[in-house]
Parts: sequence; structure tokens; C-alpha cells
Amino acid sequence: MKVQSKNILQMVTAYPLSKSMEDIQQELGLSRIRNLSEIENVFGCSEQVKHHLMNSLEYLYTYPDGSAKILTSKLADFLEINPDHLFIGNGSDEIIRLLIKAYLNTEDEAIMAQITFPRYKTNVTIEGGNPVLVPLKNGVHDLEGMFAAITEKTKIIFVCNPNNPTGTIVDSKTLARFIDQVPDHILIVLDEAYYEYATSPGYLQSLPLLKIYSNLVILRTFSKVYGLAGLRIGYGLMDSSIKTELTKVKEVFNVNKMAQEAAIAALEDQKFRNDCVARNEEGRLFLEEELTALGYTFFPTQANFLMIHMNENADQIRDELLKFGILVRSGSVLGYPESIRVTIGSMEDNQHFIQSLKIAAKCR
Ligand SMILES: Cc1ncc(COP(=O)(O)O)c(C=O)c1O
Repeated sequence: MKVQSKNILQMVTAYPLSKSMEDIQQELGLSRIRNLSEIENVFGCSEQVKHHLMNSLEYLYTYPDGSAKILTSKLADFLEINPDHLFIGNGSDEIIRLLIKAYLNTEDEAIMAQITFPRYKTNVTIEGGNPVLVPLKNGVHDLEGMFAAITEKTKIIFVCNPNNPTGTIVDSKTLARFIDQVPDHILIVLDEAYYEYATSPGYLQSLPLLKIYSNLVILRTFSKVYGLAGLRIGYGLMDSSIKTELTKVKEVFNVNKMAQEAAIAALEDQKFRNDCVARNEEGRLFLEEELTALGYTFFPTQANFLMIHMNENADQIRDELLKFGILVRSGSVLGYPESIRVTIGSMEDNQHFIQSLKIAAKCR
């Protein structure tokens, strides 16, 4: 008889990892693939980061600082907050997991949108909690519905803003009211992985709310606009009492040395970040205009990706685009079987994507 894993794991499937670019390239005999499926920073990372990392290599033999003291202090200065309110994680992914591990008892409920970042649901399930899924309204979090879903068992509410995979934001006034109304024994986790890309005046600037609401946690990351996804580093802003609890459940050396060094250097190159935001904005406007001219609709995005409604089988469209060397994410795995999620690329990528879409449409 085989050793049995925990019963709860029968309800969990592993995150579906994509094939490597090399494998896809080889299979299809393509010389180049533009990967617009993963929501990475298509502009890479700052040259200053690369330079700084080269100089840090000789310290690889030492353990990283388990409290990420230097980065915490620099980031706290940058954000103008108290370092006690800042927790550095192995990607914001880790912080999501730690929050659930530290706060969710078996049978507790966690409210989240039905279509959102999947790691909330997976981790809640693994910890023996019950995910309560509230459908989006036109691709946007239904905060009224989420508020109505609160019961005496509710422990955590996740709001992904901008939401992955739709890219939509919740209007700032509605979100501020929601945060105010949620009882303070419930943790509100505001996932702002795409914060830097959100340029709309209707986007809530949540940082000042930390001083008012001790149950509010804001998650951000170095994976997206800073282009450090491969190093795994993100951060959470929270009341110091929450940080204390997370510190109890984290691995001692949760964030590796190179990631800490890279994040320090990345913070110092705000020009790179601002350029990426500006280029993303330019790409978004270009794609929106071109797609509208072609008759496609899409969710209004405030992130570096776009969910486009194709009104056709999304897997088929993904496969057709791949023949042109463009990899997009089929909405069939995201809850929208007739839509595709596309990372906003460089201008060259965006033009190539639109051209390929046009040719593919003509061939059908
Ligand atoms: C909404 C959202 N939250 C969190 C994450 C995790 O980011 P990180 O790379 O910091 O773990 C992602 C990654 O795609 C995301 O889309």
C-alpha cells in the first residue's frame, strides 16, 4: 500500500506549469517565440541591477539576512512607512501562503472573487479552510456581493486590484468604503501585484489606509514592473502585529541573498520603473485602439496584460497565434473559454501580435 498524503490534498491540483520556451520552439520549428502568456516584464530588469548582482557574487557562500534588514529599511524609506510594517517575502506568493497559514483555522472561510489569482483558493484549501467564491461583475470584483458573503466564519477577504486575469480595478471610493465596512477581526488582503501599472485616477492609493485599518494587508512585488520574477521577491505592508505572526511561520532564510541585493538596486533605478510604466501605457493604448478597430472587446485593464474576448474557442486561437511565434494564455484555464490573456509587449511585440491576429482571422 502506498503512503497516503493528507486527505485535503485530494482536493488540490498542482499549478499547471507551461512548457519551456525551448521545447515549444523545437516542437514547432520556430526561430523565436514572444512569450506573452506569463505576465513578466517584457523589458527585462534594470542594467543597474545586473551590475550590482555581479558585484554581489562573491558573498554567495554566506546565508542571506533572514530579516532582510537593509532592504526593509531602504524600502520603508522609499515608501515613507515604518519598517515594522514591512514584511519581505519569497515573492508575494509566499506572503499569501504565510497569511493563510498564520490566520486561517480549519473550517474558517476566506472570501475571494470567483475568477482571480488562483493561489488564494489553493492555499486556503490546503490549510483546511473554505474558499467562498463571489462571481465578478463584468470582470470587476463585486464588493457588495463579497460584503454580503461575510459570515461569522469569515477570516480573510482577498481583493486583487488590478485583478489577474481581467486587469480590472475596483473604483477607489467603493473599495475605500468596503475596507471601512469590513469588521476589523477579518483580514483584508489587497493584492497589488500590478500596482505600478495602474495609472487611472480611479485607482485607490491604499498606503495611507494602513494607519487607519490594522486588519489591512497590502501585497506588492518586485516580479512585475521591476522585472525580477526569476529571483522571487515581494513584500507586504501590514500592522506590526501581523508581521510578528508571519515571522513565526516563515522559513528562517525565506528570501535569498541575490533577490535582496537585486531589490535594493532595483529601488535605486526608478527611471527604469517609470520607463516601463510609460512603455506599457503606450502599448496598452496601441492595442486597445487596434483591437477596437478590428471589432474585438476586452476588459478595461490597469495592468500589463489584457483579457481579449475572441468569441471563439480560446485554445484554438492560442494555437493559431503560436504558429506566428506568439504565445498567449488561453482563457480556458482562467474561466473565460472564449478569451485570451495577452501580456502587453514591446511595441514590436504588440505590432506583431496585431498583424498575426489579422492574418489568423482571415484564414478562418
Ligand atoms: C495577482 C497576483 N498576485 C501575486 C502574484 C505572485 O507574484 P510573485 O511573483 O511576487 O510571487 C501574481 C503573479 O503573477 C499575481 O498575478
